[in-house]
Amino acid sequence: MAEGERVDKPGNIVERARAKINLTLSVVGRRADGYHELRSLVVFANVGDTVTLQLGAPPNVSVAGPFGADITGRNLVAETLAKLGQREPRLQLGSVEIEKNLPVAAGLGGGSADAAALLRAIRRANPENADTFDWIGFAAELGSDVPVCFVHRPSLMWGRGEKVLPLTSLPSLAAVLANPGVPVPADKTTQVFRRLSAPPIPETLPDPEPPPSITRPEDAIAFARAHTNDLAEPARDVIPACREVEAALASCDGCQLARISGAGPTCFGLFLSTEAAQAAAQQLSRSHPNWWVRSVTLG
Ligand code: C5P
Repeated sequence: MAEGERVDKPGNIVERARAKINLTLSVVGRRADGYHELRSLVVFANVGDTVTLQLGAPPNVSVAGPFGADITGRNLVAETLAKLGQREPRLQLGSVEIEKNLPVAAGLGGGSADAAALLRAIRRANPENADTFDWIGFAAELGSDVPVCFVHRPSLMWGRGEKVLPLTSLPSLAAVLANPGVPVPADKTTQVFRRLSAPPIPETLPDPEPPPSITRPEDAIAFARAHTNDLAEPARDVIPACREVEAALASCDGCQLARISGAGPTCFGLFLSTEAAQAAAQQLSRSHPNWWVRSVTLG
């Protein structure tokens, strides 16, 4: 059984939906369809939501957990369930329970990770369709971050997010995640992308070169440092609290790099040891008791 897979009680399939972190994110340009062409090195943290599929139960989505009440309006998991039922009536579905441990609209891919976890659960429940259905293509229809969250491993992501290459040689990294807990506009990601003045690009671009093979954490950190998050500046404009979080992380002892993940406002700090990350997380939790702060391993 692969990591993150669990069967709780008969008929229940449990998948973890780990937080997605964009270690690097470059915007190549604006495509004719209005989306932006990206190149992003994506990793996952060992914190996340839990998605439980109760096979055969009437389709329904319930949400629990510390951030459950923060999901208002669109629920991508409910959309996924409804759309998949229409698209592939042969698939055995069920009811879904989400344990929401991650802050919502945080730049951690939470909703996308939950939808992707549900797709993995449904694929496991329907082994006869595991190879005949285009799971990644369907994931891309749900949202740009869903394919990489479906893969759920360190990956190079490109296109608008629909192309994903899993990477085998990336070391685990000690990190701190910090979220300021401020209200975020519902269309945050759209607003952040809209502030970019990215040049129009031709319809077909060559696929990017995969990143070099990296085995040591210090080399991974150097690679991340040598690249950027092109969404950082517009993210700071849309959510000014990002600046304070980045600065607080950067000032922690041993922090090698502090950066906004995706469109923010969650930021991550990279450290050379778990001990250093844990000490920094404690320090930040004390100085900012209202922030969501976690010491994590990225991989
Ligand atoms: O695909 P998703 O629904 O997650 O995208 C949310 C918004 O982010 C899109 O409406 C678009 O404005 C912007 N976006 C983009 N280029 C991408 C991904 C998202 O412009 N590659």
